[in-house]
Amino acid sequence: MSVTVLIGMQWGDEGKGKIVDLLSENNDIIARFQGGANAGHTVVVNGKKFVMHLLPSGILRKDKTCIIGSGVVVDPQALFAEIETLSKAGVSIGKNLVISPRAHCILPVHKAIDVANESKKSQKKIGTTGKGIGPAYSDKTQRLGIPMSYMREDNGEKLESAVNAMIEQKNSLLEHFYGGSVLDAEGVLKEVKIWAEKIAPHIGDTRTILLDGINEKKNILCEGAQGTMLDLDYGTYPFVTSSNTIAAGACIGLGIPPRSIDKIIGVFKAYATRVGEGPFPTELKDGIGGIIQNEGNEFGATTGRPRRCGWLDTVIVRYSAELNGVDEMVITKLDVLDKIKTINVCVAYRINGKKTDRITDDVSILDSVEPVYEEFDGWRSTTAGATRIDQLPENARRYMDFIEKKVGAKIGIISTGQDRNATIVLEKQ
Ligand code: GDP
Ligand code: IMO
Ligand code: MG
Repeated sequence: MSVTVLIGMQWGDEGKGKIVDLLSENNDIIARFQGGANAGHTVVVNGKKFVMHLLPSGILRKDKTCIIGSGVVVDPQALFAEIETLSKAGVSIGKNLVISPRAHCILPVHKAIDVANESKKSQKKIGTTGKGIGPAYSDKTQRLGIPMSYMREDNGEKLESAVNAMIEQKNSLLEHFYGGSVLDAEGVLKEVKIWAEKIAPHIGDTRTILLDGINEKKNILCEGAQGTMLDLDYGTYPFVTSSNTIAAGACIGLGIPPRSIDKIIGVFKAYATRVGEGPFPTELKDGIGGIIQNEGNEFGATTGRPRRCGWLDTVIVRYSAELNGVDEMVITKLDVLDKIKTINVCVAYRINGKKTDRITDDVSILDSVEPVYEEFDGWRSTTAGATRIDQLPENARRYMDFIEKKVGAKIGIISTGQDRNATIVLEKQ
Protein backbone atom coordinates (compact mmCIF):
# COMPACT_ATOMS: atom_id res chain seq x y z
CA MET A 1 0.00 0.00 0.00
CA SER A 2 1.15 3.54 -0.47
CA VAL A 3 0.15 7.16 -0.61
CA THR A 4 1.77 8.97 -3.52
CA VAL A 5 1.69 12.69 -4.23
CA LEU A 6 2.34 13.75 -7.82
CA ILE A 7 3.16 17.39 -8.54
CA GLY A 8 4.40 19.57 -11.39
CA MET A 9 8.00 20.81 -11.10
CA GLN A 10 7.78 23.79 -13.45
CA TRP A 11 4.97 26.21 -14.41
CA GLY A 12 2.21 23.65 -14.93
CA ASP A 13 1.28 21.61 -18.02
CA GLU A 14 4.16 19.22 -17.44
CA GLY A 15 1.99 16.27 -18.50
CA LYS A 16 0.68 15.42 -15.02
CA GLY A 17 -2.68 14.22 -16.37
CA LYS A 18 -1.08 11.62 -18.62
CA ILE A 19 1.03 10.24 -15.78
CA VAL A 20 -1.81 10.25 -13.23
CA ASP A 21 -3.95 8.27 -15.69
CA LEU A 22 -1.09 5.81 -16.18
CA LEU A 23 -0.46 5.35 -12.46
CA SER A 24 -4.19 5.17 -11.68
CA GLU A 25 -4.21 1.59 -12.92
CA ASN A 26 -2.49 0.55 -9.68
CA ASN A 27 -4.26 2.99 -7.36
CA ASP A 28 -7.64 2.67 -5.68
CA ILE A 29 -8.25 6.33 -4.89
CA ILE A 30 -7.22 9.37 -6.93
CA ALA A 31 -7.62 12.77 -5.27
CA ARG A 32 -7.29 16.39 -6.37
CA PHE A 33 -6.15 18.57 -3.45
CA GLN A 34 -5.97 22.17 -4.71
CA GLY A 35 -6.81 24.52 -7.55
CA GLY A 36 -9.95 24.23 -9.61
CA ALA A 37 -10.99 24.35 -13.25
CA ASN A 38 -7.89 26.44 -14.03
CA ALA A 39 -6.21 23.05 -14.47
CA GLY A 40 -6.31 21.29 -17.83
CA HIS A 41 -5.02 17.72 -17.59
CA THR A 42 -4.88 15.87 -20.90
CA VAL A 43 -5.13 12.12 -21.20
CA VAL A 44 -4.98 10.31 -24.53
CA VAL A 45 -6.15 6.70 -24.66
CA ASN A 46 -5.97 4.85 -27.99
CA GLY A 47 -5.94 8.17 -29.84
CA LYS A 48 -8.97 9.52 -27.97
CA LYS A 49 -8.32 12.74 -26.10
CA PHE A 50 -9.87 13.71 -22.76
CA VAL A 51 -9.18 16.95 -20.86
CA MET A 52 -9.92 16.95 -17.14
CA HIS A 53 -10.29 20.30 -15.38
CA LEU A 54 -11.86 19.48 -12.02
CA LEU A 55 -12.21 15.72 -12.07
CA PRO A 56 -9.18 13.66 -11.09
CA SER A 57 -7.44 12.12 -14.10
CA GLY A 58 -8.16 8.65 -12.69
CA ILE A 59 -11.83 9.10 -13.64
CA LEU A 60 -11.31 7.29 -16.97
CA ARG A 61 -10.60 3.99 -15.23
CA LYS A 62 -13.37 1.81 -13.84
CA ASP A 63 -13.78 1.09 -10.13
CA LYS A 64 -11.63 3.95 -8.86
CA THR A 65 -12.77 6.36 -6.17
CA CYS A 66 -12.16 9.90 -7.38
CA ILE A 67 -12.01 12.62 -4.76
CA ILE A 68 -12.24 16.40 -5.01
CA GLY A 69 -10.63 17.42 -1.73
CA SER A 70 -11.24 20.22 0.73
CA GLY A 71 -8.51 22.39 -0.79
CA VAL A 72 -10.18 22.58 -4.21
CA VAL A 73 -12.44 25.40 -5.39
CA VAL A 74 -15.34 23.95 -7.36
CA ASP A 75 -17.16 25.77 -10.14
CA PRO A 76 -20.42 23.82 -10.37
CA GLN A 77 -21.05 24.97 -13.94
CA ALA A 78 -17.61 23.74 -15.01
CA LEU A 79 -18.16 20.49 -13.11
CA PHE A 80 -21.50 19.75 -14.79
CA ALA A 81 -20.06 20.56 -18.22
CA GLU A 82 -17.14 18.22 -17.62
CA ILE A 83 -19.36 15.41 -16.34
CA GLU A 84 -21.59 15.81 -19.40
CA THR A 85 -18.69 15.73 -21.86
CA LEU A 86 -17.21 12.64 -20.23
CA SER A 87 -20.58 10.89 -19.95
CA LYS A 88 -21.14 11.42 -23.67
CA ALA A 89 -17.77 9.77 -24.24
CA GLY A 90 -18.94 6.76 -22.24
CA VAL A 91 -17.19 7.55 -18.95
CA SER A 92 -19.54 6.89 -16.07
CA ILE A 93 -19.58 9.33 -13.18
CA GLY A 94 -21.74 8.47 -10.19
CA LYS A 95 -20.81 7.20 -6.76
CA ASN A 96 -17.16 7.06 -7.89
CA LEU A 97 -16.97 10.87 -7.53
CA VAL A 98 -16.90 12.22 -3.98
CA ILE A 99 -16.57 15.93 -3.21
CA SER A 100 -15.44 17.25 0.16
CA PRO A 101 -18.04 19.29 2.09
CA ARG A 102 -15.15 21.65 2.86
CA ALA A 103 -14.34 22.44 -0.78
CA HIS A 104 -15.50 25.94 -1.69
CA CYS A 105 -17.84 27.02 -4.44
CA ILE A 106 -16.97 29.33 -7.34
CA LEU A 107 -19.85 31.56 -8.40
CA PRO A 108 -20.15 33.44 -11.73
CA VAL A 109 -19.33 36.65 -9.82
CA HIS A 110 -15.87 35.22 -8.97
CA LYS A 111 -15.19 34.64 -12.65
CA ALA A 112 -16.41 38.14 -13.51
CA ILE A 113 -14.13 39.69 -10.87
CA ASP A 114 -11.18 37.58 -12.07
CA VAL A 115 -11.64 38.82 -15.65
CA ALA A 116 -12.27 42.43 -14.53
CA ASN A 117 -9.12 42.48 -12.34
CA GLU A 118 -7.05 41.45 -15.33
CA SER A 119 -8.15 44.45 -17.32
CA LYS A 120 -7.60 47.04 -14.56
CA LYS A 121 -4.83 49.49 -15.40
CA SER A 122 -3.87 49.90 -11.73
CA GLN A 123 -3.43 46.16 -11.17
CA LYS A 124 -0.64 43.92 -12.43
CA LYS A 125 -1.83 41.64 -15.20
CA ILE A 126 -1.20 38.05 -14.11
CA GLY A 127 -2.61 36.32 -17.17
CA THR A 128 -5.01 34.20 -15.11
CA THR A 129 -7.23 31.57 -16.65
CA GLY A 130 -10.29 33.70 -15.79
CA LYS A 131 -11.85 30.78 -13.92
CA GLY A 132 -12.48 32.74 -10.71
CA ILE A 133 -9.77 30.96 -8.74
CA GLY A 134 -8.19 33.96 -6.97
CA PRO A 135 -11.50 35.65 -6.04
CA ALA A 136 -12.98 32.36 -4.70
CA TYR A 137 -9.93 31.61 -2.53
CA SER A 138 -10.01 35.26 -1.35
CA ASP A 139 -13.60 34.85 -0.21
CA LYS A 140 -12.70 31.61 1.56
CA THR A 141 -9.90 33.40 3.40
CA GLN A 142 -12.20 36.32 4.25
CA ARG A 143 -14.69 33.80 5.67
CA LEU A 144 -17.26 34.79 3.11
CA GLY A 145 -17.04 31.60 1.07
CA ILE A 146 -19.64 28.96 0.34
CA PRO A 147 -18.49 25.49 1.38
CA MET A 148 -19.96 22.52 -0.45
CA SER A 149 -21.65 21.34 2.78
CA TYR A 150 -24.11 24.22 2.30
CA MET A 151 -25.31 22.46 -0.85
CA ARG A 152 -26.95 19.74 1.26
CA GLU A 153 -30.72 20.11 1.50
CA ASP A 154 -30.73 20.36 5.30
CA ASN A 155 -28.30 23.30 5.09
CA GLY A 156 -30.60 25.46 2.96
CA GLU A 157 -30.66 28.29 5.49
CA LYS A 158 -26.89 28.43 5.70
CA LEU A 159 -26.68 28.51 1.90
CA GLU A 160 -29.16 31.35 1.73
CA SER A 161 -27.45 33.50 4.34
CA ALA A 162 -23.95 32.84 2.85
CA VAL A 163 -25.09 33.75 -0.67
CA ASN A 164 -26.82 36.87 0.64
CA ALA A 165 -23.74 37.96 2.63
CA MET A 166 -21.44 37.38 -0.32
CA ILE A 167 -23.62 39.25 -2.79
CA GLU A 168 -24.15 42.09 -0.29
CA GLN A 169 -20.39 42.46 0.09
CA LYS A 170 -19.86 42.48 -3.69
CA ASN A 171 -22.67 44.99 -4.16
CA SER A 172 -21.28 47.31 -1.49
CA LEU A 173 -17.90 47.24 -3.27
CA LEU A 174 -19.59 47.92 -6.60
CA GLU A 175 -21.50 50.77 -5.03
CA HIS A 176 -18.37 52.20 -3.48
CA PHE A 177 -16.27 52.02 -6.63
CA TYR A 178 -18.79 52.36 -9.41
CA GLY A 179 -21.76 54.06 -7.73
CA GLY A 180 -24.28 51.27 -8.22
CA SER A 181 -25.04 47.73 -7.12
CA VAL A 182 -25.88 45.31 -9.89
CA LEU A 183 -26.06 41.83 -8.44
CA ASP A 184 -29.39 40.32 -7.55
CA ALA A 185 -28.98 38.02 -4.54
CA GLU A 186 -32.32 36.34 -5.14
CA GLY A 187 -31.41 35.39 -8.71
CA VAL A 188 -28.01 34.07 -7.65
CA LEU A 189 -29.57 32.00 -4.86
CA LYS A 190 -32.12 30.51 -7.23
CA GLU A 191 -29.35 29.35 -9.55
CA VAL A 192 -27.18 28.01 -6.72
CA LYS A 193 -30.10 26.00 -5.35
CA ILE A 194 -30.50 24.25 -8.70
CA TRP A 195 -26.79 23.37 -8.63
CA ALA A 196 -27.03 22.25 -5.02
CA GLU A 197 -29.57 19.57 -5.91
CA LYS A 198 -27.26 18.14 -8.56
CA ILE A 199 -24.11 18.31 -6.44
CA ALA A 200 -25.49 17.04 -3.11
CA PRO A 201 -25.34 13.32 -4.03
CA HIS A 202 -21.59 13.64 -4.61
CA ILE A 203 -20.80 15.29 -1.28
CA GLY A 204 -19.20 12.84 1.10
CA ASP A 205 -16.70 12.47 3.90
CA THR A 206 -13.58 12.50 1.77
CA ARG A 207 -11.19 12.73 4.72
CA THR A 208 -12.63 9.56 6.26
CA ILE A 209 -12.54 7.75 2.90
CA LEU A 210 -8.85 8.60 2.65
CA LEU A 211 -8.07 7.71 6.26
CA ASP A 212 -9.91 4.38 5.95
CA GLY A 213 -8.05 3.81 2.69
CA ILE A 214 -4.73 4.41 4.43
CA ASN A 215 -5.69 2.03 7.27
CA GLU A 216 -6.95 -0.60 4.82
CA LYS A 217 -3.63 -0.36 2.99
CA LYS A 218 -5.12 0.89 -0.26
CA ASN A 219 -3.09 2.72 -2.88
CA ILE A 220 -3.86 6.42 -3.01
CA LEU A 221 -2.65 8.90 -5.61
CA CYS A 222 -2.88 12.65 -4.87
CA GLU A 223 -2.97 14.64 -8.12
CA GLY A 224 -1.38 18.08 -8.02
CA ALA A 225 -2.53 20.83 -10.35
CA GLN A 226 -0.45 23.70 -11.75
CA GLY A 227 3.26 23.53 -10.84
CA THR A 228 5.78 24.41 -8.16
CA MET A 229 6.70 27.78 -9.70
CA LEU A 230 3.00 28.76 -9.56
CA ASP A 231 2.72 28.00 -5.82
CA LEU A 232 1.16 30.90 -3.91
CA ASP A 233 3.99 30.98 -1.35
CA TYR A 234 6.98 29.46 -3.15
CA GLY A 235 6.40 30.45 -6.77
CA THR A 236 7.13 33.65 -8.66
CA TYR A 237 4.71 35.86 -6.68
CA PRO A 238 2.58 37.71 -7.75
CA PHE A 239 2.62 35.68 -10.97
CA VAL A 240 1.28 32.58 -9.29
CA THR A 241 -2.00 30.82 -8.72
CA SER A 242 -3.89 31.21 -5.44
CA SER A 243 -3.24 27.80 -3.87
CA ASN A 244 -0.35 25.68 -2.62
CA THR A 245 0.64 23.52 -5.53
CA ILE A 246 3.60 21.85 -3.80
CA ALA A 247 3.45 18.39 -2.22
CA ALA A 248 2.81 19.84 1.25
CA GLY A 249 -0.49 21.14 -0.14
CA ALA A 250 -1.78 17.55 -0.33
CA CYS A 251 -1.98 17.30 3.47
CA ILE A 252 -3.88 20.57 3.83
CA GLY A 253 -6.08 19.97 0.81
CA LEU A 254 -7.08 16.42 1.75
CA GLY A 255 -6.77 16.34 5.53
CA ILE A 256 -4.25 13.48 5.53
CA PRO A 257 -1.33 13.38 7.97
CA PRO A 258 2.12 14.30 6.57
CA ARG A 259 3.49 10.98 7.84
CA SER A 260 1.00 9.05 5.69
CA ILE A 261 2.76 10.07 2.50
CA ASP A 262 5.10 7.40 1.18
CA LYS A 263 6.27 8.78 -2.14
CA ILE A 264 6.50 12.08 -3.95
CA ILE A 265 6.71 12.09 -7.74
CA GLY A 266 7.74 15.25 -9.61
CA VAL A 267 6.84 15.64 -13.27
CA PHE A 268 8.83 17.90 -15.60
CA LYS A 269 8.98 18.53 -19.32
CA ALA A 270 12.19 17.96 -21.32
CA TYR A 271 12.09 21.75 -21.90
CA ALA A 272 10.06 24.51 -20.21
CA THR A 273 6.80 26.33 -20.81
CA ARG A 274 4.78 29.00 -19.05
CA VAL A 275 1.31 30.43 -19.72
CA GLY A 276 0.48 33.91 -18.54
CA GLU A 277 2.80 36.63 -17.27
CA GLY A 278 5.83 36.42 -15.02
CA PRO A 279 9.57 35.73 -15.08
CA PHE A 280 10.86 32.90 -17.27
CA PRO A 281 14.67 33.03 -17.43
CA THR A 282 15.14 30.47 -20.23
CA GLU A 283 12.33 31.74 -22.46
CA LEU A 284 13.11 31.49 -26.19
CA LYS A 285 11.72 34.34 -28.17
CA ASP A 286 13.42 33.22 -31.38
CA GLY A 287 12.70 30.52 -33.95
CA ILE A 288 13.59 27.58 -31.68
CA GLY A 289 10.87 28.64 -29.22
CA GLY A 290 8.43 28.52 -32.15
CA ILE A 291 9.66 25.08 -33.23
CA ILE A 292 9.18 23.71 -29.70
CA GLN A 293 5.75 25.33 -29.51
CA ASN A 294 4.72 23.65 -32.76
CA GLU A 295 6.32 20.27 -32.14
CA GLY A 296 4.99 20.17 -28.58
CA ASN A 297 1.60 21.60 -29.54
CA GLU A 298 2.07 24.08 -26.72
CA PHE A 299 -1.36 25.65 -26.52
CA GLY A 300 -3.28 25.78 -23.24
CA ALA A 301 -5.60 22.85 -22.47
CA THR A 302 -7.93 25.21 -20.58
CA THR A 303 -7.73 28.55 -22.37
CA GLY A 304 -6.14 27.63 -25.70
CA ARG A 305 -3.53 30.37 -25.18
CA PRO A 306 -0.12 29.78 -26.76
CA ARG A 307 2.37 28.70 -24.10
CA ARG A 308 5.68 30.54 -23.86
CA CYS A 309 8.49 28.04 -24.55
CA GLY A 310 12.11 27.82 -23.47
CA TRP A 311 15.01 25.54 -22.58
CA LEU A 312 14.97 23.27 -19.56
CA ASP A 313 16.07 25.10 -16.42
CA THR A 314 17.73 22.66 -13.99
CA VAL A 315 18.07 25.39 -11.34
CA ILE A 316 14.28 25.48 -11.17
CA VAL A 317 13.83 21.71 -11.37
CA ARG A 318 16.36 21.27 -8.54
CA TYR A 319 14.56 23.92 -6.45
CA SER A 320 11.35 21.93 -7.02
CA ALA A 321 13.02 18.64 -6.12
CA GLU A 322 14.18 20.15 -2.83
CA LEU A 323 10.96 21.99 -2.00
CA ASN A 324 8.74 18.99 -2.70
CA GLY A 325 11.12 16.31 -1.44
CA VAL A 326 10.83 14.52 -4.75
CA ASP A 327 11.63 10.78 -4.55
CA GLU A 328 11.28 10.08 -8.26
CA MET A 329 10.95 12.18 -11.38
CA VAL A 330 9.02 11.75 -14.61
CA ILE A 331 10.36 13.41 -17.76
CA THR A 332 7.71 14.09 -20.40
CA LYS A 333 7.74 15.24 -24.01
CA LEU A 334 11.25 13.95 -24.73
CA ASP A 335 10.05 13.30 -28.30
CA VAL A 336 9.39 17.01 -28.83
CA LEU A 337 13.16 17.58 -28.94
CA ASP A 338 13.74 14.83 -31.54
CA LYS A 339 14.57 17.22 -34.39
CA ILE A 340 16.59 19.82 -32.48
CA LYS A 341 20.24 20.01 -33.50
CA THR A 342 21.67 21.61 -30.36
CA ILE A 343 19.84 21.47 -27.06
CA ASN A 344 20.64 23.94 -24.31
CA VAL A 345 20.12 23.29 -20.61
CA CYS A 346 20.31 26.06 -18.04
CA VAL A 347 22.65 24.99 -15.25
CA ALA A 348 23.12 28.27 -13.38
CA TYR A 349 22.24 31.95 -13.41
CA ARG A 350 24.46 34.98 -13.67
CA ILE A 351 23.29 37.84 -11.52
CA ASN A 352 25.21 41.06 -10.97
CA GLY A 353 28.32 39.38 -12.36
CA LYS A 354 28.07 36.45 -9.93
CA LYS A 355 27.19 32.87 -10.85
CA THR A 356 24.73 30.84 -8.79
CA ASP A 357 23.02 27.51 -9.28
CA ARG A 358 20.51 27.95 -6.46
CA ILE A 359 17.26 29.82 -6.04
CA THR A 360 17.30 31.59 -2.72
CA ASP A 361 14.19 32.55 -0.79
CA ASP A 362 14.06 35.72 -2.84
CA VAL A 363 12.59 34.41 -6.08
CA SER A 364 12.33 37.98 -7.35
CA ILE A 365 15.92 37.49 -8.61
CA LEU A 366 14.38 35.51 -11.48
CA ASP A 367 13.30 38.81 -13.03
CA SER A 368 16.85 39.78 -13.80
CA VAL A 369 19.00 36.64 -14.00
CA GLU A 370 20.89 35.67 -17.10
CA PRO A 371 20.84 31.90 -17.71
CA VAL A 372 24.12 30.01 -18.07
CA TYR A 373 23.71 27.18 -20.55
CA GLU A 374 25.41 23.90 -21.22
CA GLU A 375 25.12 22.66 -24.79
CA PHE A 376 24.07 19.17 -25.85
CA ASP A 377 24.15 17.52 -29.24
CA GLY A 378 20.60 16.59 -30.12
CA TRP A 379 19.81 12.99 -31.05
CA ARG A 380 18.03 13.88 -34.30
CA SER A 381 16.25 10.56 -34.50
CA THR A 382 12.87 9.54 -33.30
CA THR A 383 12.08 8.72 -29.71
CA ALA A 384 8.35 9.21 -30.28
CA GLY A 385 6.36 6.24 -29.04
CA ALA A 386 9.36 4.46 -27.51
CA THR A 387 8.39 2.01 -24.77
CA ARG A 388 11.83 0.64 -23.83
CA ILE A 389 14.95 2.46 -22.72
CA ASP A 390 17.11 0.57 -25.24
CA GLN A 391 15.06 2.21 -28.02
CA LEU A 392 16.38 5.62 -27.00
CA PRO A 393 19.40 7.13 -28.75
CA GLU A 394 22.61 7.55 -26.77
CA ASN A 395 22.39 11.36 -26.78
CA ALA A 396 18.88 11.29 -25.28
CA ARG A 397 20.11 9.04 -22.48
CA ARG A 398 23.10 11.34 -21.89
CA TYR A 399 20.72 14.31 -21.70
CA MET A 400 18.65 12.59 -18.99
CA ASP A 401 21.70 11.38 -17.02
CA PHE A 402 22.93 14.97 -16.96
CA ILE A 403 19.56 16.26 -15.69
CA GLU A 404 19.49 13.65 -12.91
CA LYS A 405 22.96 14.72 -11.74
CA LYS A 406 22.14 18.43 -11.82
CA VAL A 407 18.79 18.01 -10.05
CA GLY A 408 19.85 15.35 -7.57
CA ALA A 409 16.88 13.04 -8.20
CA LYS A 410 16.31 9.96 -10.36
CA ILE A 411 14.02 9.64 -13.37
CA GLY A 412 11.65 6.66 -13.04
CA ILE A 413 9.35 7.23 -16.01
CA ILE A 414 10.02 8.66 -19.47
CA SER A 415 7.11 9.85 -21.58
CA THR A 416 7.60 9.72 -25.34
CA GLY A 417 4.19 10.71 -26.66
CA GLN A 418 0.67 11.76 -25.75
CA ASP A 419 -0.80 8.29 -25.63
CA ARG A 420 -1.03 6.30 -22.40
CA ASN A 421 1.16 3.63 -24.02
CA ALA A 422 3.95 5.94 -25.20
CA THR A 423 5.80 5.53 -21.93
CA ILE A 424 8.97 3.92 -20.61
CA VAL A 425 8.73 2.74 -17.01
CA LEU A 426 12.27 2.13 -15.79
CA GLU A 427 13.12 -0.87 -13.63
CA LYS A 428 14.01 0.00 -10.06
CA GLN A 429 17.78 -0.15 -9.56
P1 GDP B 1 -0.89 18.80 -17.32
O1 GDP B 1 -1.66 20.05 -17.06
O2 GDP B 1 0.37 18.74 -16.52
O3 GDP B 1 -1.71 17.55 -17.17
O4 GDP B 1 -0.44 18.88 -18.84
P2 GDP B 1 -1.36 19.32 -20.10
O5 GDP B 1 -2.31 18.24 -20.40
O6 GDP B 1 -1.91 20.69 -19.88
O7 GDP B 1 -0.27 19.50 -21.21
C1 GDP B 1 0.55 18.46 -21.60
C2 GDP B 1 0.32 18.20 -23.10
O8 GDP B 1 1.38 17.40 -23.58
C3 GDP B 1 -0.95 17.44 -23.38
O9 GDP B 1 -1.43 17.80 -24.65
C4 GDP B 1 -0.48 15.99 -23.40
O10 GDP B 1 -1.30 15.13 -24.18
C5 GDP B 1 0.88 16.14 -24.04
N1 GDP B 1 1.88 15.15 -23.63
C6 GDP B 1 2.07 14.57 -22.42
N2 GDP B 1 3.17 13.80 -22.45
C7 GDP B 1 3.67 13.88 -23.69
C8 GDP B 1 4.82 13.33 -24.33
O11 GDP B 1 5.62 12.62 -23.75
N3 GDP B 1 5.03 13.68 -25.64
C9 GDP B 1 4.19 14.50 -26.33
N4 GDP B 1 4.47 14.80 -27.58
N5 GDP B 1 3.09 15.04 -25.75
C10 GDP B 1 2.86 14.74 -24.45
P1 IMO C 1 -2.36 22.61 -14.98
O1 IMO C 1 -2.90 21.86 -13.78
C1 IMO C 1 -0.39 26.18 -16.46
C2 IMO C 1 -1.45 29.96 -14.51
C3 IMO C 1 -2.20 31.00 -15.32
C4 IMO C 1 -1.66 32.27 -14.69
C5 IMO C 1 -1.53 31.89 -13.22
C6 IMO C 1 -2.72 32.31 -12.36
O2 IMO C 1 -3.04 22.28 -16.25
O3 IMO C 1 -0.87 22.45 -15.02
P2 IMO C 1 -5.21 31.37 -12.12
O4 IMO C 1 -6.30 31.24 -13.12
O5 IMO C 1 -4.81 30.09 -11.46
O6 IMO C 1 -5.47 32.45 -11.09
O7 IMO C 1 -3.94 31.91 -12.95
O8 IMO C 1 -1.42 30.47 -13.19
N1 IMO C 1 -2.08 28.63 -14.46
C7 IMO C 1 -1.63 27.55 -15.12
N2 IMO C 1 -0.60 27.42 -15.98
N3 IMO C 1 -1.09 25.10 -16.08
C8 IMO C 1 -2.10 25.21 -15.19
O9 IMO C 1 -2.74 24.14 -14.67
C9 IMO C 1 -2.44 26.49 -14.70
N4 IMO C 1 -3.38 26.95 -13.84
C10 IMO C 1 -3.15 28.26 -13.69
O10 IMO C 1 -1.89 30.91 -16.69
O11 IMO C 1 -0.36 32.53 -15.17
MG1 MG D 1 -2.49 21.66 -18.10
